[in-house]
Amino acid sequence: MTVGHYGQPSFCVNDLMLEAKKIILGVTGSIAAYKAAFLVRLLVKAGAEVRVLMTPAAAQFISPLTLSTLSKNQVHTAVSAEDSWNNHVEMGLWADAMVIAPVTATTLAKMANGICDNIIVATYLSARCPVFFAPAMDLDMWQHPATRENVRRLQTYGNHLIPVEHGELASGLVGNGRMAEPETIVHHLDQFFQASTLLAGKKVLITAGPTFEPIDPVRFVGNRSSGRMGIALAEQAKARGAEVVLILGPTHLRPSSPGIQTISVQTATEMAAAAKQHFPKSAVAILAAAVADYRPGEVAKEKIKKKKDTFTLELIKNPDIAATLGQQKKENQLLIGFALETQEEETNAKGKMVKKNFDFIVLNSLRDEGAGFNLLTNKISIIHRDNKIKKYELKSKEAVAGDILDEIEQLLSKH
Ligand code: C5P
Repeated sequence: MTVGHYGQPSFCVNDLMLEAKKIILGVTGSIAAYKAAFLVRLLVKAGAEVRVLMTPAAAQFISPLTLSTLSKNQVHTAVSAEDSWNNHVEMGLWADAMVIAPVTATTLAKMANGICDNIIVATYLSARCPVFFAPAMDLDMWQHPATRENVRRLQTYGNHLIPVEHGELASGLVGNGRMAEPETIVHHLDQFFQASTLLAGKKVLITAGPTFEPIDPVRFVGNRSSGRMGIALAEQAKARGAEVVLILGPTHLRPSSPGIQTISVQTATEMAAAAKQHFPKSAVAILAAAVADYRPGEVAKEKIKKKKDTFTLELIKNPDIAATLGQQKKENQLLIGFALETQEEETNAKGKMVKKNFDFIVLNSLRDEGAGFNLLTNKISIIHRDNKIKKYELKSKEAVAGDILDEIEQLLSKH
């Protein structure tokens, strides 16, 4: 069956990656809830197993009977009903993906703040699978700073926004706020599962954080990198099925997903040794570490005493991990680097990409507000070997990690 509607993506449901996928659909109380029937039908036709959860408000817009008939599964509208309890924890663990469509401003706010007063939020908080949310509301509600902040927070937690569309709204106003069409939602899910398979089982090496180069037993030369960007990349690569090795410089942050092999290092020399050991078996290496370019030539054995008025430190060059891996890189490997520049950003980044043999380089400029070290957000451009530049909005580092991995998967699909 080929579907396509109002200029939405058209596809053949049989070609989608949704066969046997277990999907929880949460439906909340918006007029767009009527589209949930079409969404369930499309998912079921594509071979997915769908379990529907509804808020009591949603049940006023569309009957649970309609959605249980279409999904061929019982629909739940409460955590407990009469003398039975619906196990939201079991459901959260069962699913390959959870989709909340439509999600109202209220449920967005509850999800962003962990207010667990209905079965959808209870399941969302228990879910370990990727979560997609497709908001639906009037244009002023959508633009309100409270809604913007809740959406941003949900993205920061690693959830996937299916953007609202522009058009006529239930109020009669015209603007942004319409829920994405069911075909678009299915397309997002399909893209996600397609992409997941490209990294699945592949070894991905990531360097992250600063390096600290000792001067004496208590002092060091270092920088302000938190490692947050590299850790977000590790989490996202793991979520897409990769076997992740994270070589992490000194930072108090750690990845939260179990199963990420984390090698803690202090210095550039230690980072270089670990990277060289793991690179040959890696399909992809992403070098997000802010490696110190120089280290003290001599490390004092004892704490240096404050004697003279001036103190000269002689620094010697550290190994360039990126350049070394760039030289060793084989045809079937991808090497991705970062550039944090303060001037002539694009020219400098392009120079580094060529010199270090990167397949693409991620540029963040310190001139951009919200981009750089120690922040929760980043604003990047990706520069490719053919000089094509993709510029992205300011986003959470988790969302930026998703964009970078999407780009890597694009390259893997052509390999
Ligand atoms: O420090 P620079 O701007 O040259 O960093 C560009 C890229 O090279 C980054 O991806 C960084 O992780 C990597 N790099 C490295 N080893 C170094 C210096 C930088 O791997 N010694």
